[in-house]
Amino acid sequence: MHSPVGSLCMSSKEKEKILAVPTSRTNIAAGISVDREKCTGCGLCVSVCKDFSIEIKDGAVEVSDHPLFGCIGCGHCMAICPSGAIEVVGRACSPEDLFDLPDRKEAATYEQLHVLFQRRRSIREFKETPIENNLIEKILDASRTAPMGLPPSDVNVLVLNSRDTVRLFAEDFCSYLEGMKWMVSGWFLFLMRPFWGKENHDMFKNFIKPLLHAYTENMRKGVNLVSYDAPLAMYFYGSPYTDPADPIIAATYAMTAAEALGLGSCMIGGIHPFIQNGRKAKEFREKQGIKFASREGLFVIFGYPKVKYTKGIRRTFASIEEKQ
Ligand SMILES: Cc1cc2nc3c(=O)[nH]c(=O)nc-3n(C[C@H](O)[C@H](O)[C@H](O)COP(=O)(O)O)c2cc1C
Ligand code: SF4
Ligand code: SF4
Repeated sequence: MHSPVGSLCMSSKEKEKILAVPTSRTNIAAGISVDREKCTGCGLCVSVCKDFSIEIKDGAVEVSDHPLFGCIGCGHCMAICPSGAIEVVGRACSPEDLFDLPDRKEAATYEQLHVLFQRRRSIREFKETPIENNLIEKILDASRTAPMGLPPSDVNVLVLNSRDTVRLFAEDFCSYLEGMKWMVSGWFLFLMRPFWGKENHDMFKNFIKPLLHAYTENMRKGVNLVSYDAPLAMYFYGSPYTDPADPIIAATYAMTAAEALGLGSCMIGGIHPFIQNGRKAKEFREKQGIKFASREGLFVIFGYPKVKYTKGIRRTFASIEEKQ
């Protein structure tokens, strides 16, 4: 029978309050229970727990009194246990989340994956055809498998699932930007230069400023350069707690899934940075149903491509240094 171990002198109420790494969803450690009759003491769970939440004592696993953070609910111990002897409940993780891993033979080969990556091009020209709900579900399902900094995932997704909704968002965004033009005015850039350095100054002057003007001036003429009137957009964003990489990784998975489903897609980095700071940004986020400001976030637009590429472009990294 599963019973909580290693915290026997604590009442369940006290145990509930063990603080662990905070996310926007919880700051409480998950609870660990072990069925001592099933546990063989093989130690596999201990070897995969990098929180040092569990240890082997007297031939069976126990909760340790020296965790790094407190059980983060990654579930790795349950997933590796050959006898189903350990269970973790909390931080959005429970034994019900376990599933049998598909066989290796069913996984894409390197060659298949590489072809999928090679075939992907950023698509900004879409047919008006709406995206079926089951495809949206599949994109989200695949994207949920992305690695995350710390469980439970602190990634939020805003789904804009029609051409009109995507368009309306872009129009609202451009109206909002009209009121933010001071951010790229000559006097503001001049004032800020000593504080934020040459690189930021160059980026603002030569990228952010023309981008903001291109967005707003084109939208005034009815041309949507923000989201290209795609029939589907997803905004992956975090919370003030989130590792900034998490939403970006989730967005990348979503893009790859879309490619596998025959959809074109494009990442849109030009929205997130503009809607983070200040009262007006907060009002904009609230109006759009965006729950948090976050360090990083990324829009991805999707749709059936109106154009067909027959050639790819070989890409390079800025540098690859190998050390041995
Ligand atoms: C983080 C990120 C942000 C991007 N933001 C935009 C954007 O705001 N607007 C746009 O048209 N394309 C955007 N792109 C698409 C890039 O322009 C595109 O990936 C690049 O030109 C390479 O082309 P490829 O994706 O076909 O290889 C973005 C791509 C990334 C990775
Ligand atoms: S869920 Fe993760 S952190 Fe918690 S005991 Fe298991 S392996 Fe360790
Ligand atoms: S992996 Fe399972 S059987 Fe092995 S020590 Fe951990 S709980 Fe016990």
